[in-house]
Amino acid sequence: MTIAAETAHLATPIDGLAIDDTTQRRLFLDARSNTEFSERDVPDTLIRSVFDLVKWGPTSNNTTPMRVAIARSEDARAAVISNAAQSNRAKLAKSPVLLVVARDNRFHDHFSVTSPGSEATAARLEAAPERRAALATTGSWLQGGYLIVGLRAAGLAVRPYGGFDAEGLDEALFADSSWSSIMLLGVGYPPPSDSGAGLRRGRVSANVGVVSF
Ligand SMILES: Cc1cc2nc3c(=O)[nH]c(=O)nc-3n(C[C@H](O)[C@H](O)[C@H](O)COP(=O)(O)O)c2cc1C
Repeated sequence: MTIAAETAHLATPIDGLAIDDTTQRRLFLDARSNTEFSERDVPDTLIRSVFDLVKWGPTSNNTTPMRVAIARSEDARAAVISNAAQSNRAKLAKSPVLLVVARDNRFHDHFSVTSPGSEATAARLEAAPERRAALATTGSWLQGGYLIVGLRAAGLAVRPYGGFDAEGLDEALFADSSWSSIMLLGVGYPPPSDSGAGLRRGRVSANVGVVSF
């Protein structure tokens, strides 16, 4: 791992946690936003397993609105890459698997699973598309974070991307569905050496980011 000297002390294992140092390193400390990957294939089954793991993370009223599209075919990959910001295209093209993280604006259609007995709420949401979109957006971002950690738990490296034309991509992939894209993930197994992510930038510490009252 390459890390700027002045921030190296931040990426050391934390004492007193319920996970060991190796797991801390895999999930957080050594995990980078890779642009380089090994050529090893990432099967759809693994992505599906990760989805089935991270879906258990909490969301508001258990809405679980995040959906994931695996852009595997040449056409789907081309749709993702051509709708990405110019500066992201070459990096995305090097990613063995491209995931489109989406929100389902009709998450309430699944209340029989996620919120049994909430028919009245579902009816209210049906009449409030903007409220649904807002709930779907916040819940999907939250789940997107779980997804990144879950992919790392599967031994994968991930680079998230926000620089893309969501409307253009939705037209290409989701024209006939209730999904809207929120984030792209370039995913693959890590390479033997350089992650391509460059010098690691720091994070503010708990001294800055946490306050006790
Ligand atoms: C929501 C989000 C959007 C991002 N958008 C882009 C992007 O458009 N292009 C890019 O190259 N990296 C993008 N990144 C990658 C970040 O710059 C990177 O994750 C961050 O600098 C931390 O890097 P590290 O994990 O290697 O420490 C994005 C990351 C996130 C979480």
